Amino acid sequence: MVFHALFNRRPAPEQTPRDTDADWEEIGRTHPYFGVLTDPRFRSENLTEESLADFFRSGEHQINHEAGLLRGRYPDFAPRSALDFGCGVGRLTRPLALMTGDAFGVDIAESMLAEARRQECEGATFGRDLPDRHFDWIVSLIVFQHIPPERGYPLLKALMARLAVGGFITLQFALYRDLRHASVPGGRIVMGEDLTTVSNIEALRDLAKGEMVMFDYDLTVICAILFNAGITDLELSHTDHGGFHGASIRGRRTA
Ligand SMILES: C[S@@+](CC[C@H](N)C(=O)[O-])C[C@H]1O[C@@H](n2cnc3c(N)ncnc32)[C@H](O)[C@@H]1O
Repeated sequence: MVFHALFNRRPAPEQTPRDTDADWEEIGRTHPYFGVLTDPRFRSENLTEESLADFFRSGEHQINHEAGLLRGRYPDFAPRSALDFGCGVGRLTRPLALMTGDAFGVDIAESMLAEARRQECEGATFGRDLPDRHFDWIVSLIVFQHIPPERGYPLLKALMARLAVGGFITLQFALYRDLRHASVPGGRIVMGEDLTTVSNIEALRDLAKGEMVMFDYDLTVICAILFNAGITDLELSHTDHGGFHGASIRGRRTA
């Protein structure tokens, strides 16, 4: 079959020579809040009641903002459950619980989950594994960019299998970076004048444990996973974190 042969020719994602789970366990143990938002005020030694309140307020603003965008596109947006993938210390899970009454935060790092559970929040539950049930809204912000794509794509597929028919997504991915960031380990896609694609994942071998690294994703693969999961109505906007470009994607499962 010609089609079959063509698909088989798509190169498999490169294997990442790094245990990013161990990095996040270490980040969660030492600087759980700074690991989520890299502002010096959130380093463990600088945390105060006020900075912690600001930290959690940023999550409330973000969830309200994202909900407003979805409501603008889908006037019947009124989720009664939410899954927060890569929840960290629960910055987004808490406002999601407040809004829906039933929010589940998943994270790979037990150290992050321990911190998330320290702050009681009605309607919020945390765990390391994806629960075997459906959700009305699946949210994952600033997470996939830290997961090697060869692991991230199957995870995205597993996540989308948990979206209820008629449910909503809010996801964010890093897609490429400016040439000036070409040497930052982890990236695969760098856009210079000539739209070069480079990979520098070998540099990951030399980094100490606990470093935060960034991976670029392929929008074609993301769309294939979403469309196959029945999420065919999508809206996308540009995100730019100082030359690290990506997309925030909103959408709905229609079938
Ligand atoms: C930058 S933090 C973002 C936390 C949260 N989404 C927020 O915006 O407040 C990234 C989180 O992703 C988690 N993470 C990294 N790899 C993961 C994986 N393979 N599965 C689930 N969570 C992961 C990390 O432990 C960390 O808590």
